[in-house]
Amino acid sequence: MKTSFKSTVIASTIAMIVGFAGTAAADPLQLSIQADQPGDKISPYLYGQFAEHLGRGIYEGIWVGEASPIPNTNGFRDDVIRALKELEIPVIRWPGGCFADEYNWRDGIGPREERPVRINTHWGWVEETNEFGTHEFMELVEMLDSEAYIAGNVGSATPREMAQWLEYMTADNNSELAKLRRKNGREEPWKIDFFGVGNETWGCGGNMTPEYYTDLYKRYATFLKAPEGNRPKRIASGGNDEHTNWTEALASGVRRGMDGISHHYYTIPSGVWREKGNSTGFPEQQWISTLLNTMKIDGYLAANEAVLEEYDPEARVGIYLDEWGTWYDPETGHEPGFLYQQNSLRDAVVAALNFNIFHRHTKRLHMANIAQTVNVLQAVILTDQEKMILTPTYHAFEMYKPFKDSTFIPADFAEMMYYTLDDVSVPAVSASAAKTVGGELVLALVNLDPNDSLEVAAELNGFSASEAEGRTLTAETMDAHNTFGQPEAVKPVRIKVDLDDGKLLLELPAKSVTVVTVR
Ligand code: AHR
Repeated sequence: MKTSFKSTVIASTIAMIVGFAGTAAADPLQLSIQADQPGDKISPYLYGQFAEHLGRGIYEGIWVGEASPIPNTNGFRDDVIRALKELEIPVIRWPGGCFADEYNWRDGIGPREERPVRINTHWGWVEETNEFGTHEFMELVEMLDSEAYIAGNVGSATPREMAQWLEYMTADNNSELAKLRRKNGREEPWKIDFFGVGNETWGCGGNMTPEYYTDLYKRYATFLKAPEGNRPKRIASGGNDEHTNWTEALASGVRRGMDGISHHYYTIPSGVWREKGNSTGFPEQQWISTLLNTMKIDGYLAANEAVLEEYDPEARVGIYLDEWGTWYDPETGHEPGFLYQQNSLRDAVVAALNFNIFHRHTKRLHMANIAQTVNVLQAVILTDQEKMILTPTYHAFEMYKPFKDSTFIPADFAEMMYYTLDDVSVPAVSASAAKTVGGELVLALVNLDPNDSLEVAAELNGFSASEAEGRTLTAETMDAHNTFGQPEAVKPVRIKVDLDDGKLLLELPAKSVTVVTVR
């Protein structure tokens, strides 16, 4: 490992430099913040969640049922709801993922004891009781004061079934489906803000080609109707990773009736699905490869944005990164199909890096949803029966709350330092700044180097600062994490931020996420 300087670059630049050499930094890194050059609004939807019928994500993680000894309100566990409320979640995507394309919405309505038991064929081949259905999901959305993003079934359902689900939820008259909804306990229509037309139709959602799906999208979307004032944005199922062929096919093939294209990107430490890497106990080589792989999302977004730019320069059609996060090998002792994984300081760093990148793409990136909320992949919460912990990723989400609805402002380093291990280098630090709705300046900094702290001196152009405060999330080890025995091993702490003649001076501990508010 070594940290070294390199010539002028912006913080989001990714480098793989063979045999790169340099000297250790002595002076603070100079960061220039241009509060006088406001950019786009940072959409709150970049802080969305995704909760699928997968493992213990919904059942146990969110829903325990009214008869459970775990304290709950109407079947929703109180501890988890309390913690999620704190995050001010703007939107939740449900019921899948791959599950969406085998879901029959009619299974999840009506008296719970009469709902059919199905098999969750994607995730562990376990029984799906359908106890948690449309009414329960919409109650969750309302409890969290959030918005609903429904993922519809294209893979194994008809356009009629999809259209009728939307009608059931939104009809404001006396149609049979509106009456059925009322009979099932919901008088008023729900507000459905986003509707996904299929999920990963290139894979688990039907193994289609982009051209075939583009035609199907038009067919399904045509019948997705709702009363005026309650029409959801319609999101097409797009590509993943570096592929832009789906974006190309959809952008050129669908001229109207599409508000967004979904895109998925998972961070895999090794970069190989077969052997991904462990959630904890990993070598430094997998620390750096995880961060490097995470930052590739920057290029993937840019490539897809370039395609959309040609067809829709006003950015009316957004990219919906409705699944992102780390994906590790299954934990020993857990059902592999449940995708349960531990969540460490590395995951918080991954989350913060993603946020910083997302902010730069906010014009075209209309939404991002971490996969997934509880007990699945890069979860913000883990549970074990009645016990619950907040993960380092939860803390990253909480620390970045001031960025929601803020206005992007440029924050660039005059000279970048690199953290290098063997033949891999990544920028040592990532920064993002914004002006909040309350007029404060918020600055997020990530120190990617797991060994060395670094100092930053930030010049605030166009902002007159009188006080500053900040919090840092860090720990002794790269894989430090919270456990049910030690739930607060990793949590943010206050740090000292100096203001010297309008300049911010602060030290970023090794492997840390820091958020500073300046007034
Ligand atoms: O989040 C887990 C799975 O990853 C989702 O079901 C699917 O859409 C993706 O492949």
